[in-house]
Amino acid sequence: MKVEQPGSPSSSHDYTNLCARDVQVILAYQHPTGAYPASPTFAPYRYGWFRDGAFIAYAIDLVGHHESARRFHGWAVDVILRHKGKALRAIDKARRGVPLGEDFLHARYTLTGEEVGDDWPNFQLDGLGTWLWALQEHVTRTNFVLPPRWEEAVTITCEYLAALWQTPCYDLWEEDKEHLHTYTLSAIAAGLLAATPLSPGTWEDTAHQIRSYLLQVASQTGHFTKYAALAQTPSGSVPNVDASLVGVAVPYALTEPDTPLMEQTVSLIERLLHRPGGGVYRYVGDRYYGGGEWTLLAAWLGWYYALSGEWERARELEAWVAAQADDSGFLPEQVTTHAQHPAAIAAWERRWGPVARPLLWAHAMHLILCHTLRST
Ligand code: BGC
Repeated sequence: MKVEQPGSPSSSHDYTNLCARDVQVILAYQHPTGAYPASPTFAPYRYGWFRDGAFIAYAIDLVGHHESARRFHGWAVDVILRHKGKALRAIDKARRGVPLGEDFLHARYTLTGEEVGDDWPNFQLDGLGTWLWALQEHVTRTNFVLPPRWEEAVTITCEYLAALWQTPCYDLWEEDKEHLHTYTLSAIAAGLLAATPLSPGTWEDTAHQIRSYLLQVASQTGHFTKYAALAQTPSGSVPNVDASLVGVAVPYALTEPDTPLMEQTVSLIERLLHRPGGGVYRYVGDRYYGGGEWTLLAAWLGWYYALSGEWERARELEAWVAAQADDSGFLPEQVTTHAQHPAAIAAWERRWGPVARPLLWAHAMHLILCHTLRST
């Protein structure tokens, strides 16, 4: 698909107010089907992810572009119904304790809803949970009544997540398939809770079960950990922390931002993953493009601080993210100037070219932060 460049950039444009540009970028690249490509110019990311798309839809809803969000949710409904045979077989297999094989919903699809035939991991559960959460936000914001097809897709998704949540899957970074991940479980619990008013079922009970499990695991260490399964918590030199753990509180609300468990988690993220005055690393030891600072994670941590009333910290992170936009106002996925493993960058550049830019999810997280700072 050929993608038009949104609004031709001019070098005199003032992108200190990047928020307006975030909206333009998101709207301009949305496909007629409603899907948002993760990045229109980075070949491996030319697909629609449930995770990225759900955050993008939430962001664009926040600033009043409900029609765009509705079209994304419509794409998600179509994709789930189109692939429901696999979902239903997965539910049945999970209930019987049989390996899923190829029967599962994918983390990403082409913009027209087909499966992607590359060798990148596709079995991830967090994106569907985040989708349910974003859909419920949309429903509340717009008083939308789900048409029967939408309700069917929501119910299948809830049944799927409720049946599979204890099955290890790839995490939101598409890594570590042998674990149960705290981030993933939080997204599932939030999604099931959000779906409770949308679809008949006992989704709330499963959500509470997941939450209790996560709190029990976290109470062993005094903070949330990247891997949620007690038996599989690694020991040794690699800290069991990931910047995405911010999501447990914001937006998934499994705990308030100021509980001791959450504050302890964020203080570890600060100490291990936030470069002072800079951006946020995914986790210690990341080697993807050398393991640089992620713009979306910096904005996410800022979102947490904004909701915690720590305005200065939130503004500092927003300023850092905005400073990473190029002359076209495009945000990169990550910035490699202070990469953890600079020697690993070249191999990725040879394989896939420069870091993805624009990354629509990064624009979405920046937009959410801007909006939160200006409206709370
Ligand atoms: C990230 C995913 C993301 C995808 C598309 C990957 O590198 O690990 O979290 O969904 O890019 O943006």
